[in-house]
Amino acid sequence: MIIGGSSSQKLVAKVAKELNDQLCPIETRKFPDGERYIRIKGEIEKEVVVIQSTGFPQDENIMELLFILKNLKSLGAEEIKVVIPYFGYGRQEKRFKKGESISAAAVAGLIEDCGASELICINLHESQMCDFFNIPVHELSAMPLIASHIQKQLENPVIIAPDKGALLHAQEISRILDCPCDHMEKTRLSPDTVETRVKNLDVKGLQAVIIDDIISTGGTIVNATKILMQYGAESVTVGCVHPVMVEDALLKIFATGVEDVLATDTLTSQVSSISVAPLIAEALK
Ligand code: R5P
Repeated sequence: MIIGGSSSQKLVAKVAKELNDQLCPIETRKFPDGERYIRIKGEIEKEVVVIQSTGFPQDENIMELLFILKNLKSLGAEEIKVVIPYFGYGRQEKRFKKGESISAAAVAGLIEDCGASELICINLHESQMCDFFNIPVHELSAMPLIASHIQKQLENPVIIAPDKGALLHAQEISRILDCPCDHMEKTRLSPDTVETRVKNLDVKGLQAVIIDDIISTGGTIVNATKILMQYGAESVTVGCVHPVMVEDALLKIFATGVEDVLATDTLTSQVSSISVAPLIAEALK
């Protein structure tokens, strides 16, 4: 039995179809004062899967997930596998400045306390986040799916990580495609400003593909694209797992000259063309 939260309806339907599984109907709405209302309309089975991304509006989606979990538990579910394709607050997984909340740990604690017995996520911003949980956590990678789309579209790619944090992702893709890989250095100056530097970059005449886990304001991709063009790349394509896409991020990216953005549907966006449904379905089998 699969239950989909309101943030991931299309993806949930695809996963249920892949698994030939029953979708449990739920009613989610808001009271006039803004508080959330949840009702599970089907008969609860002992083993249940709940799928809900916790992107924007993060607090509402997290609250809805917690209500679903707690409700399932009190209605008799014994094993609840929770799939969170995009884990909101995942970038606040440590205290960058004294006194900051480790928000990712707080969210992890709530999910576990409300009854999750197992968690499946896709490309967490930092894999160490798994340590916030006492239940089994399975982190899946969407990079092979992105790699196969790159393979279909480009003949001569070079994979570029726009910062060191994305290097493992870029290397995973370059191994699959058997093509070169390089990385840039990035310093975040403010939530929406980054500075990017390179030492040497051999991309002249090649089809550059920037790979990142998240695109948020688009600043990282815009900087990396400008540099790749200066270094003579034939074209720039972008691959990312989680298209957060704050405000006009996509406009800025395409205005810089990016050919295409290949993103997955862990979050709904105009570029969520690669479905992670087969990946989730396989993990649930
Ligand atoms: C950060 O380390 C992530 O991997 C992404 O590079 C970052 O979230 C992208 O943010 P933005 O699109 O705002 O530059």
